[in-house]
Amino acid sequence: MQDLPNLILIGPMGAGKSTIGRLLAAELSRDFHDSDHEIQSRCGADIPWIFDVEGEAGFRDREAQMIDELTRLQGVVIATGGGAVLRKANRRCLSERGTVIYLFTTVEQQLRRTAKDRNRPLLQRPDREAVLREMFALRDPLYRSTADIVVRTDRRGPRSVVNDIVRRVTR
Ligand code: S3P
Repeated sequence: MQDLPNLILIGPMGAGKSTIGRLLAAELSRDFHDSDHEIQSRCGADIPWIFDVEGEAGFRDREAQMIDELTRLQGVVIATGGGAVLRKANRRCLSERGTVIYLFTTVEQQLRRTAKDRNRPLLQRPDREAVLREMFALRDPLYRSTADIVVRTDRRGPRSVVNDIVRRVTR
C-alpha cells in the first residue's frame, strides 16, 4: 500500500466519518486512523475532559499535531474531527498529503444523528440547531475548498457511500 495516496475524510459532526472510514479501510485493505480516537488515547482522557481542562484552543493544538502526524503516514484511511479544516496549516497538510473526501450532510441529518450525543462539547447546549447552522455557514466552504471529492451521506447508508467512494478513487 506504500504507493497509494492516503484517503482523508473530512466533514461535519454526524456525517459518518468514523463509520465510513472503518468500512472504507476494510474494503480496500488499508489501515484506519481516527484522529479524535488517537488524540483521546494519547491524552488518556476523553474529548469533553480536554475541552474542560485545556479549552477548545488546547484541543485544536492537539488536533493539529495529530493531523500532521497521521497525514505523514502512507496509504492509510484517516477520519478527522469536524473542526479539522479550521486552521490553515491543517488544510495544507490534508490537501497536500492525500485524496481528501468531503462527507457532506445536512444540518437536519446532523441534528438527528447527534441528538443523544454527550461526547461532543460544542453541541451540549440548548441552541444546538443554531450552532450547527453557524458552523455549516463557516465550514462548508472550507470543506469544499480542501476536498478533492464531495460525497453526500444524508440520503443513504454507509455501505452505499463506501461503494461510491471506492468507485471514484479507483477509477
Ligand atoms: C468537533 C468535532 C468532533 C471533535 C470535537 C470538535 C468540531 O469530531 O473533534 O468535538 O469542531 O466539529 P466529530 O466530527 O468526529 O464529531
